[in-house]
Amino acid sequence: MNGLFITFEGGEGAGKTTVLKSIMETLQKQGKKVMATREPGGSAIAEKIRHIILDPEHNEMDARTEALLYAAARRQHLVETVLPKLEEGYIVLCDRFIDSSIVYQGVARGIGVEEVRQMNLFATDGLMPHLTCYVDIEPTIGLKRIEGHKGREYNRLDQEEIDFHFMVRRAYQKLASEEPTRIKTIDGGESLESVVQHTYHVIEQFLNKGDC
Ligand code: TYD
Repeated sequence: MNGLFITFEGGEGAGKTTVLKSIMETLQKQGKKVMATREPGGSAIAEKIRHIILDPEHNEMDARTEALLYAAARRQHLVETVLPKLEEGYIVLCDRFIDSSIVYQGVARGIGVEEVRQMNLFATDGLMPHLTCYVDIEPTIGLKRIEGHKGREYNRLDQEEIDFHFMVRRAYQKLASEEPTRIKTIDGGESLESVVQHTYHVIEQFLNKGDC
């Protein structure tokens, strides 16, 4: 595989989606082969699974069903969208990946980190991102930010209580401390411009070193 797989992670309202878009434009301007995609979704079948998972009416969805659906969407997206681009040598920027499942399903839903990790490694056939940019935000600030975003899709995860989002943050911070080489933390509390700059710096260093 010749390409690079870079994922973006963070709680609600961290700004990772905006940051990803800006990084993509910068890398494109430099003439690099780059594509942006997202989870859950990123391929026709995976987008359909996304619709089932995030439908606000699906309140009866069981936590393990949810975890399996995320993993199924991940597998399909990987095979249809991500792997072919990596084979072609692209830098693939992906909004959320396996760490989202470990944090949201494994910790916040209480299924267990190792259970969710193993199920996902089956789905990805062991593939992990080369680099993960974790945009860290204090949940009350993040949620306040997205409150004002008209046109943003309202989804089932938006119905969660604030404690859920604090659990998500703590779990991301723990993961980042356990895997400091792969997961780089960016302070999402700064201005959007600074968050973009900091993230770009992390990616630039990674591309220059060519390690991880
Ligand atoms: P989305 O609207 O894409 O949110 P965001 O802009 O915050 O990425 O909704 C995705 C939601 O799905 C988000 O709340 C996180 C959740 N999620 C999981 O719980 N597990 C996963 O594996 C993934 C990929 C997402």
